[in-house]
Amino acid sequence: MKSGLQGRRLLLRPLAEDDAAALWAAVDVSREALKRRMGWVSAMTSVADSRRFIQDCGSAGRSREPESFAVVEARSRDLVGVASLQRRTVPGLAELSLWIRTDRRGRSYGLEAGRLLAEHAFRHEALQKLYARIDPANREGRKMLQRAGFRYEGCLRHEKRLNGRWVDQECWGLLRVEWRNR
Ligand SMILES: CC(C)(COP(=O)(O)OP(=O)(O)OC[C@H]1O[C@@H](n2cnc3c(N)ncnc32)[C@H](O)[C@@H]1OP(=O)(O)O)[C@@H](O)C(=O)NCCC(=O)NCCS
Repeated sequence: MKSGLQGRRLLLRPLAEDDAAALWAAVDVSREALKRRMGWVSAMTSVADSRRFIQDCGSAGRSREPESFAVVEARSRDLVGVASLQRRTVPGLAELSLWIRTDRRGRSYGLEAGRLLAEHAFRHEALQKLYARIDPANREGRKMLQRAGFRYEGCLRHEKRLNGRWVDQECWGLLRVEWRNR
């Protein structure tokens, strides 16, 4: 995805170093809500941290770092979230991860960004399956995945360490054939 993927109200494009300040501001305003779902948030405490995160994304093709995209509001050009694809050792599988800054939630941006990333993954990456893992208490994440066409596959118990606790992880998946027949 060189120039970006255009949706109705959003644009997904590769994160660039110029996004460091906007990314940090988006994380900072969403910090409490994001901390409940994502372990890396506590470690991002400055613009320098967000710049390092973006630099790591730049090496995604060569390493196991996720390929991350800025979720940009087309009207304002504001960075309103980040959507990532993490490839796995098994070719054809990738994990979707996505967040929207708290002051822009509830506008179906999560759903639009999820659909755009799935479009990118299946159209350009020869993917067979896109999957996501969420905390069972994450009702908004579940709703977003269901509406994007993902199916529930089961729950892994005590699969992840988050904020000093072991948490279960619900598994959701979208197969290429399901995406094609959507
Ligand atoms: C999950 C997330 C991306 C959704 O972003 P969003 O832009 O607010 O989502 P949308 O506006 O597209 O809403 C998706 C659905 O969730 C519903 N929803 C939103 N908040 C909800 C809540 N607290 N409880 C239940 N449903 C909720 C919405 O009503 C909508 O369903 P509808 O269209 O049938 O009304 C956002 O909450 C987020 O960033 N969460 C933290 C990261 C995360 O958990 N990611 C998980 C996916 S990998």
